[in-house]
Amino acid sequence: METVVELKGVQKRFGDKTIYESLDLAVRKGETLTVVGPSGVGKSVLLKLIIGLHRPDAGEVIVEGQNVAAMEEDALREVRRKVGMLFQGAALFDSMSVGENVAYGLYEHYRWPEDKVRARVTECLSWVGMPGIEEMRPADLSGGMKKRVGLARALAPGPEVILYDEPTTGLDPTNTRRINELIASLQKKLGVTSIVITHDMDSALAVSDRLALLEHGRIALTIDGDRAKQSPPEALARFMRGEEVDEQRP
Ligand SMILES: Nc1ncnc2c1ncn2[C@@H]1O[C@H](COP(=O)(O)OP(=O)(O)OP(=O)(O)O)[C@@H](O)[C@H]1O
Ligand SMILES: [Mg+2]
Repeated sequence: METVVELKGVQKRFGDKTIYESLDLAVRKGETLTVVGPSGVGKSVLLKLIIGLHRPDAGEVIVEGQNVAAMEEDALREVRRKVGMLFQGAALFDSMSVGENVAYGLYEHYRWPEDKVRARVTECLSWVGMPGIEEMRPADLSGGMKKRVGLARALAPGPEVILYDEPTTGLDPTNTRRINELIASLQKKLGVTSIVITHDMDSALAVSDRLALLEHGRIALTIDGDRAKQSPPEALARFMRGEEVDEQRP
């Protein structure tokens, strides 16, 4: 099976704090892989390593055969076109309209005429179920709407891989279900590979082909979604029962 994203022996430190000693993870083309793990364990850092916002202290981060860890800014731009990210908290630019937010990556990666940009923005907003809100400001949106606009922005440049950092955290059950359905339908419709970070086990089990548990500075296990539902290994079961503790050290 083809691997699109692979982390090999990744070590990451901030100052004297070690986040991972040696982390290994392989993501298969077209799958939805969910990463769960305690708060502060390094889940968001993992996604940022994949798009080159952080660099590992050792090891390799391979996206479609190329080592992101060794790339110059120019090559990283191409990685960021191929790999879209929905940031934890959506991270919209408050000074821009919704339409300008969604168009942001298009200006960064393409030299398209205005009408083509506008058409793409319209298309992406309708994919996330929010057509026609181009003129609104992020400050006027609910939490669920912000996440969906953040997702439209991530989708606009046509990524092959989408990284979702806590896409449902803080949302009500209706919006949670909507986002989960979106993750599933984007995988079906666009054939994208997805990596989802979540605290929400119901969401994880709803959307995942596979799950990975990040604990103590490494991927402690990976398991098929169906098996995780039927007979989760003890470490995962413990996590699912909410018996996690905040990670202070790896
Ligand atoms: N830029 C940075 N500089 C220094 N430390 C950082 C930086 N980014 C993250 N960290 C530290 O790395 C650790 C892992 O952070 P990360 O944001 O990946 O956690 P997380 O697993 O996503 O947690 P949560 O579930 O709360 O979102 C934390 O201790 C955090 O303080
Ligand atoms: Mg995080």
